[in-house]
Parts: sequence; structure tokens; C-alpha cells
Amino acid sequence: MNKTPQDNQEPVDVVIMAAGKGTRMKSSLPKVLHRLGGRALVAHVVDTVRRIGARHVVVVTGHGATDVEAALESGAGGRVPLFARQVPQLGTGHAMQQAAPLLPDDGTVVVLSGDVPLIGEATLRALVAQSGGRRLALLTIRVDDPTGYGRIVRAPAAQDGEGEVLAIVEEKDANEAQRAIREIYSGVMAVPAQLLKTWLARLDNKNAQGEYYLTDVVGFATVDGVPVVAHRTDDALQVAGVNSPAQLAALERAYQLRQADALMAQGVRLADPARFDLRGTLACESDVEIDVNCVFEGAVSLGAGVRVGANCVIANARIETGAVIHPFTHIDGEKAGVTVGEGSRIGPFARLRPGARLGAEVHIGNFVEVKNSTLAAGAKANHLAYLGDATVGARVNYGAGSITANYDGANKHRTVIGDDVHVGSNCVLVAPVTIGAGGTVGGGSTVTKSTEPGALTVARARQVSFANWQRPRKATKD
Ligand code: UD1
Ligand code: CA
Repeated sequence: MNKTPQDNQEPVDVVIMAAGKGTRMKSSLPKVLHRLGGRALVAHVVDTVRRIGARHVVVVTGHGATDVEAALESGAGGRVPLFARQVPQLGTGHAMQQAAPLLPDDGTVVVLSGDVPLIGEATLRALVAQSGGRRLALLTIRVDDPTGYGRIVRAPAAQDGEGEVLAIVEEKDANEAQRAIREIYSGVMAVPAQLLKTWLARLDNKNAQGEYYLTDVVGFATVDGVPVVAHRTDDALQVAGVNSPAQLAALERAYQLRQADALMAQGVRLADPARFDLRGTLACESDVEIDVNCVFEGAVSLGAGVRVGANCVIANARIETGAVIHPFTHIDGEKAGVTVGEGSRIGPFARLRPGARLGAEVHIGNFVEVKNSTLAAGAKANHLAYLGDATVGARVNYGAGSITANYDGANKHRTVIGDDVHVGSNCVLVAPVTIGAGGTVGGGSTVTKSTEPGALTVARARQVSFANWQRPRKATKD
């Protein structure tokens, strides 16, 4: 078994405060459900605390509680957090009072905010270690502009060290000297549950905002002789909160840049890391090239040497070795997934939908849509076509403007196209129908009956010509 920093320590229980309204988002969506990298803010926090091996995860909900709880229940992969409702919301201390009954006495409690999504695993482990079962550990950071944050008030410094932490003073309660302090409280702390509970019981709301401040526990610790340690981070991203659309957008860019950097460190060649968006997971083998303005969603994996052109959106797909996705291609496998075979050429302007399974060296050209269809090696549909619910054999050539009519208004039916079939331009294959291997379908045919292997099928009005045809003329006045 791997030894984790939690060994020989108290179990860790986590409280994620997520009851606040988020007024400045000016949105009907609860703030913690706004998305960063395609995932709800609070879901990022829940993911991270799972990774530190937290015993209980309690989310304090209030504003939009049913939506927040539903989102966490559906996205939890079976591990649903506990919820403590806070109605009305009377401050962070009041939020913690609602969570307290769910916290066993023997644990270390880590307090987090649902709107601070990028807090790191290592930082939390370090903070828990600092708490060590007997101290109050605060995550702090020095910032250029401390406006709006709780200030870390310290005793006068002894010699070269820093003075011990005495209190956190909120901006609205701070005097001028305190406002000048640039070390601020991040909103993250680790504290033994037993101590926390006694302090929560002592909170009052006699302050400038008339709220119960969790941060008042620091003053109680000082009075009770419990050591307070400030664990200072220099990674502003980890403690950055989201309060407004502008902050959300800024954090999104920072997050994307971090993901882009990680991919480039693995050898992925991004044309411009500032124009790259990953809203999920992207696994890349060697020598992958991604041009500008591509968006990857869900789970995507790219084989060795895959090239993705500019302005592609690719979701829930596996692209095999050496395949090229030309610009402006949209691929979304949703739940069924999409696979693009080795050496295939897709796009520009192609659309691959759920259940598209393309073999090796398949060509899908501009304005071609493929849904729930298998194309065997070497099949080509190069222009303006639709393949839905189809099984397409090897080396098939599927002409421009041809479609499978797979839907009769009530049910979907399958079209089977054998190996080496040539389907001319502008054909309608009315499913269920099978085109026998090696067959040819003449352009403009509407095929409603299955055809024999090797046959030429023409299903359209026979051409007639009238010699020396005179078009009607305008009557002349005389
Ligand atoms: C809090 C801290 C401040 C710190 C800052 C860091 C207090 C009193 N102050 O201030 O020292 O610098 O975070 O960002 O704790 N929440 C509830 N219920 C409530 C109030 C808030 O669940 O009644 C949740 C919010 O949804 C949010 C978190 O608690 O996730 C923090 O609340 P917020 O109002 O943003 O705290 P600040 O006033 O910014
Ligand atoms: Ca506030």
C-alpha cells in the first residue's frame, strides 16, 4: 500500500461552503455551478478533496440548494457528498455551524469554498500536516491588492522571524493600519474538529456586517493558547475565488494555460497555448499537433502523430495514430463515442456524431455527417453526404449528395453497403436496405429494395429527349 501523508494522522473531514448567493455573477445559476474547464466550480473542489482521501465531505448549500445538490449527486460517480442546508445564510461561521453536527470529533476539518476551484491537493496535505491534530492552520497569501479579504494580523516580529498570528480582521472591520496588511486569509483552514466545535459555539455577529464570521475562531485560538500557524502559498491561482463573470473568465484562461503547459511538457505541439481549450481530459501520444482555436470536451484521446486543424471541436472521441482532422470539423461522441481509424482524413467541415466508427484510411470530406455508422477501412464519403445507422464496407465510395434515409418517421432502420460498392451522387438509400458487395448505384437513384452483389442499380426516371424542342415564345403584337 502507498504511504500517504495522512498515515498516522487523524482522519480528514472536509467542509465546502457553497451556500452564498454570488450576487455579482448576476445570474440565476448558483455561483458554484458556473463552469470552469467545463466542470462546475464546486465539482473541482469535490474532486480535489477526494484525492486527498477525505473521510467525509460535507457541502453547505443554501442559495440554489436543490440545484447544487442535484449537480453533485449526478456528477459524483457514486460518491455523493453529505449536504448541510444553511437557510438563511448568516455568514461563514454560521455555515460551519450547520455542518458541525456531521463532523466526527476525532478528525481534522479542512474548510474550503465552493467558489475557489483550483485549490491543490499538495497544498491541502501540507495544511493538514501543519494542523497536526492540535493546531489551527490557515492558508494565507501575500497579495498586492488585499481589498475585500480578511487580513492576517500578527504580533510584532521577533528578531528575523515573523510574529505569531493573532487574528483575522475582515476588510469592513479593519482599521487603517490593518487595511494596509498585504497578507490575507485565503478562506482555507485545517483545524481539529473538537477545537472547531467549541469555537463555533462561541461565535457572535457583533461586527460591521452583522454576520457570524468563521474567521473569529483565530481570536479564540489565541485566547485558548492553541497555536495558530499560517501556511503561506505563493500560487495565487490556487486561492483565486470567482465572484464575477470577469473573474471567472480570467480564471478560465489561467486554468487553460496551465493545462496547455502540461500538455506541451508531454510533447504535444500546440500552435498557440492561449488559443486552446480543454473541458475534460485529453490523452495524447507522441507528436500530436493541434492548431489554434480547438476545443476538446469530455474524454478525448489522440494517437501518435495525429494532427488537428484550426477551429475543431472534438468531444468524447478516440482518434487513432496518424489521422488528420482538417479545420472546422465537429466531432461529438456523446455517450456512444466516436472512433477515427489510423491514417484517416476528416474534414474540413465534417461532422461525426455518436457511434461513428471509422476504420483505417477512411476519408470523410466537407459537409459530410456520420452518425451511428461503421465505415470499414478505406471507405470514402468526400462531399455533402449523410450516413446514419449504416454499415459501410471496405473501400466503398459514397457519392456527393447521397444520404441514407434511416428514419421512417417512427423507427430507425439500418443500411448495409457491402465492400467495394460505388454509390453515385445524389442517391437516397431507403433503409432497411442492403447494397450487395461490389455493386454500383447510379447517380440520382432512390433505392428501396436490396441489391445483389456486383449489380448495377439505377432507380430513377429514364431520360427522354425530344429532338428540336421549341420553347414557348412570347406572343408578338401586330
Ligand atoms: C471570506 C473570509 C475572508 C477571506 C475570504 C477569502 C470570513 C468571514 N471571511 O470572506 O477572511 O479573505 O473569504 O475569499 O469567512 N458562504 C456560505 N454561507 C454564508 C456565507 C458564505 O456558505 O452564510 C460561503 C460562500 O458561498 C463562499 C464562502 O462561504 O463559498 C466564502 O464566502 P464569501 O462571502 O465569499 O466570504 P468573504 O466575505 O469573501
Ligand atoms: Ca462576502
